[in-house]
Amino acid sequence: MKILVVGPGGREHAIIKALSRDPEATALHAAPGNPGIAVLAQCHPVDVCDGAAVAALAVELGVDLVVIGPEAPLIAGVADAVRARGVACFGPTEAAARIEGSKAFAKDVMAAAGVPTARSRTCTSTVEVEAALTEFGSPYVVKDDGLAAGKGVIVTDDIDQARAHAAGCDRVVIEEYLAGPEFSAFALCDGSTRSVLLALARDHKRAYDGDLGPNTGGMGAYSPVSWLPAGVEDTLAATVVDPVLAELEKRGTPFSGVLFPGLVLTTDGVKVIEYNARFGDPEIQVVLERLETPLAGLLMACATGTLKSDVALDWSGDTALNIVIASDGYPTDPVAGDTITGLDAAGSVEGAHILHAGTAYNDTGELVAAGGRLLNVVARASTPELARATAYEALAHVELRGKVVRSDIGQDLA
Ligand code: AMP
Ligand code: GLY
Repeated sequence: MKILVVGPGGREHAIIKALSRDPEATALHAAPGNPGIAVLAQCHPVDVCDGAAVAALAVELGVDLVVIGPEAPLIAGVADAVRARGVACFGPTEAAARIEGSKAFAKDVMAAAGVPTARSRTCTSTVEVEAALTEFGSPYVVKDDGLAAGKGVIVTDDIDQARAHAAGCDRVVIEEYLAGPEFSAFALCDGSTRSVLLALARDHKRAYDGDLGPNTGGMGAYSPVSWLPAGVEDTLAATVVDPVLAELEKRGTPFSGVLFPGLVLTTDGVKVIEYNARFGDPEIQVVLERLETPLAGLLMACATGTLKSDVALDWSGDTALNIVIASDGYPTDPVAGDTITGLDAAGSVEGAHILHAGTAYNDTGELVAAGGRLLNVVARASTPELARATAYEALAHVELRGKVVRSDIGQDLA
């Protein structure tokens, strides 16, 4: 099977690494890829949101499957463009990806499907905003309706900040605050109402230690989520996946690819914070690190409507942990261009490896920072303690001026 993976980051590097272990995947291509991906796949400089260009590349390369990593191309309809050229594609249609692209649409689907979630109001005027802020109270949760790369949401005790954020959005969702630890679930879907849940993961979303500071795309992750009460995992398909697949099918926009509910364990049970239409980054890195079932056939089954919902996936019992290294100034003002060294030493720590997320080569051939989140240090070990120790040992070898890293990834597992 020849496969083209679309996207530039750590998620796509992890997908390609997992595919490279699968003998069924005979040729790997990436668009645009990154310096880490280039070691495993042939990289092609294509704008990931240009559906015609991605589809033309897939046809030219003669690939059997295109896997779309990030949300932006999905929401821009790139999966539709690929399928229109007769190539199988892992990823939802533009219409189904609205579950991620519009918070208001997602809330509407959740209400219709009876999914447990925060009570909310969609507001388009200052009067509605004031009423909703008063109704739900502090901490205020204010979400830009559109896609904003994790920056459209604020959670704050400061009413003026809540008002200011709402004022900057055309349409805003204001909702009840859900207290509790968060975790992520990934359901593989094939366009029918069949789905297969992958192992759960936890993402540390806040920028600073102790889950403080601004929200980010994610500063680290681990799997399994051993603190979840027994039985929680068994109910997720029926409560937060199947009803949404059925509702989207009913609306004429069936979902294929991966449905990713962001979840909170509240005192009142598990509730959905949001749905995404793609794998979580940095969570999928740890999930794929534990997946022993070959990946290519699973992704192809999703793309072709042939997923078996009773497929038994094999999981390593190890803990996998991922620490994100971000550039100086992340998340507000990441600095590009600083050189990165020490990756060979980091990657040679037993049980650890490095994935690239936002790196590039400069004119003189040095590896440099080229984004916010730059690298993932992934470790796998038989215990959570060992996985943490291994990841932090590997991380210590990475040299980068002013690097932003959390020192408490997975500490809540201890
Ligand atoms: P979202 O983009 O909707 O995932 O929101 C980003 C982050 O904001 C989530 O991962 C949570 O940490 C936080 N958040 C969003 N909605 C809520 C809520 N209703 N209650 C508490 N925290 C929330
Ligand atoms: N790490 C969370 C996300 O990918 O949305």
